[in-house]
Amino acid sequence: MKIGVVGGGGREHAIIKTLKKNASIEKIYAIPGNGGIAKDAECVPDIKATDVAAVVDFCKSKALDYVVVAPDDPLVAGTVDALKEAGIPAFGPEAKAAIIEGSKVFSKNLMKKYNIPTAAYEVFNDIEKAEEYVKTCPIPTVIKADGLALGKGVIIAMTREEALDGIKTIMEEKKFGASGDQIVIEEFLEGPEVSVLSFTDGKVVVPMISSMDHKRINDNDEGLNTGGMGTIAPNPYYTDSVAAECMEKIFKPTIEAMNKEGRTFKGCLYFGLMITKDGPKVIEYNCRFGDPETQVVLPLLDSDLLTIMQATTNGTLAETEVKWKSGAACCIVEASGGYPLSYKSGYEITGIDEVDNVFVAGADLKDGKLYTHGGRVLGVVEIAPTLKEAIDKAYASASKVTFQDMHMRKDIGQRALKALQ
Ligand code: AMP
Ligand code: GLY
Repeated sequence: MKIGVVGGGGREHAIIKTLKKNASIEKIYAIPGNGGIAKDAECVPDIKATDVAAVVDFCKSKALDYVVVAPDDPLVAGTVDALKEAGIPAFGPEAKAAIIEGSKVFSKNLMKKYNIPTAAYEVFNDIEKAEEYVKTCPIPTVIKADGLALGKGVIIAMTREEALDGIKTIMEEKKFGASGDQIVIEEFLEGPEVSVLSFTDGKVVVPMISSMDHKRINDNDEGLNTGGMGTIAPNPYYTDSVAAECMEKIFKPTIEAMNKEGRTFKGCLYFGLMITKDGPKVIEYNCRFGDPETQVVLPLLDSDLLTIMQATTNGTLAETEVKWKSGAACCIVEASGGYPLSYKSGYEITGIDEVDNVFVAGADLKDGKLYTHGGRVLGVVEIAPTLKEAIDKAYASASKVTFQDMHMRKDIGQRALKALQ
């Protein structure tokens, strides 16, 4: 089998390393991949993940048997549809289903229509009406750009001034471009967050092991929001009873709702949940694997990833084995100093060959050496029988891999450990 993986971050590296456990795969192309992924797959650096036509042409030219489309924007842009038209089966939702992440207005309206628990909300496309609304709405409040915004289109406003500023930033200054033509203003929820990625073929939904992201740049959840500074799995807040409630009130109803709307979802549906005092509620849907959640979830998978992925495409997931290892996983992200604001790239990464599970997010390969390229550079992952051991092992391994101005959080998993006590 010849496989393509569209994307080029830590998540894609984790997907590729997991796929490689299947002996029937003779070749994997990463489109575009990165310098770290180049050790595990043939990278195609000249093709952007978002260039749908070029991606399809490449996959056709190599006669690929199956393609995994990992990032949100190529999915929303219809890469899976285009590959299918070209006769190449692909993992991920078609554009009409990827809209569940591509439009927050769509997903909020879906949840309201089908009674799926989520924060109360209003939609605005008129800036004055939005400003009027936040003059009297409960504070804190949450302002979200409708469309994709590289994970940055959410503003938690702790005061009315911040809410007004947020509306201006999104709707007037157009910080996220056309994504800000409409906004959602929603109720501020409180409680621990849980990420649940799931496989679905549109008929059944099979949740993966739960995980917890750490979004802020600094320890104790301080500082700016990032793409994710580390993850642990499983998430102790996702108890068996919470899981059962999520299945009945959120997971199954979402799959059925998408079917009823004529937007059958196949692939990985990511449920971003908050466990509130009134039960679990949906904070967001993503139409793809999470990053860096994937880096802790896939190492715990004890079944063949390709077989499961193909089953989501073929509609045979109910008959397919999806088993998990016992134990826990921890991922420590190493970022360039200064991220998520400005930072420098081009520093040599050392020690990477001493550690097994390094998933590279941003690096260039030159003369056999890796150099940093990007904000989040890599994630070091370890699994162990207990969460405490996984965290200790991950930090021990992470200390071996370094580069100039490297920044990592020192408290990944501490909140989860406290919850376990
Ligand atoms: P999102 O991009 O939708 O995942 O939002 C980013 C982060 O903002 C989430 O992980 C939450 O921590 C926070 N957030 C989003 N919506 C809400 C909400 N309604 N109440 C409280 N926090 C929220
Ligand atoms: N880690 C959050 C996301 O992938 O959206």
